[in-house]
Amino acid sequence: MEKKQLDWENLGFGYISTDKRYVSNFKNGAWDAGTLTSDANIVLNECACVFQYAQTCFEGLKAYTTMDGHIVIFRPDLNGKRMEESARALEMPIFPVERFVDAVVKTVEANAAYVPPYGSGATLYIRPYMMGTNPVIGVKPANEYQFRIFTTPVGPYFKGGVRPLTLRITNFDRAAPHGTGHVKAGLNYAMSLHASVTAHAEGYDENMFLDPATRTKVEETGGANFVFVTKDNKVVTPKSESILPSITRRSLLYVAKEYLGMEVEEREVLVDELKDFAECGLCGTAAVISPVGKIVNHGEEICFPSGMNEMGTVTKKLYETLTGIQMGRITAPEGWIKVI
Ligand code: PLP
Ligand code: COI
Repeated sequence: MEKKQLDWENLGFGYISTDKRYVSNFKNGAWDAGTLTSDANIVLNECACVFQYAQTCFEGLKAYTTMDGHIVIFRPDLNGKRMEESARALEMPIFPVERFVDAVVKTVEANAAYVPPYGSGATLYIRPYMMGTNPVIGVKPANEYQFRIFTTPVGPYFKGGVRPLTLRITNFDRAAPHGTGHVKAGLNYAMSLHASVTAHAEGYDENMFLDPATRTKVEETGGANFVFVTKDNKVVTPKSESILPSITRRSLLYVAKEYLGMEVEEREVLVDELKDFAECGLCGTAAVISPVGKIVNHGEEICFPSGMNEMGTVTKKLYETLTGIQMGRITAPEGWIKVI
């Protein structure tokens, strides 16, 4: 299979249309068999539930070319399970995890020419999503749905590649205490846009959202969870009912414990203790592990000892072990890697 001629080393995190996408429709209470199509456009009625009441959820995962030239996908079953949870929360039909994994594999196979080569620093981002498609004007769930998957080759999520980021603590909320923060609903991202645009305008890379109820605890950013490293080398990550249960974070905790022999803690993290951490990073499929150098809390700067020039030592070890597993340089735990 011949690879496309793209400038792999210089890709940003943007949309590039690839050859095939997967589509399955839900009607009369059942999903159809699903198929691959070349058509990147969707034509829907003006009153489709997704347009009026934002009934949509999505996932994000990646395919990699390994050191020995295979194409692999990282833990697609966990994305499938999370999408089932999102669908439940939004009163959408379940697209079963086995079908999800099969559809992801078919879509990646059909776009194998776009999976960036090993060592290029780029990956193939996979975006499954689902939406309510029939006209709905009274507020209620749709009864027809479309599930789709497209792929797009991507480079680093943050401009300038891996460099320590500056965040601000924001007064905007991303998710309510008993709302949809724990599922991957499009509406959570719409909620984060104003906070994100104003943060960028003020020179920050991202927002740190706090728990809306008490504003004392760390939640996450608009597109990634947090990991912290304590001065005595423990990995700490915030526990909250209203953040997205990141698959990268779950994988990192395992890697820290089982591969690096570190202690790990998933617990509430107070804003007051930020100043005591040695290192801070953002973790997610798109963010991978992006180091954070500084957090500004309403004018007060919290600077991590790891500084603004490079990744902290522990963050770097976590990054190298996780990406090593994804790219086949390090043996993966059982069941983490789906070979195409
Ligand atoms: N938190 C939010 C809000 C996200 O959008 C993402 C990205 O998917 C994550 C966390 C990280 O999750 P994952 O590691 O499963 O990609
Ligand atoms: C992902 O990491 O897959 C996401 O969905 C986050 C988004 C900011 C791109």
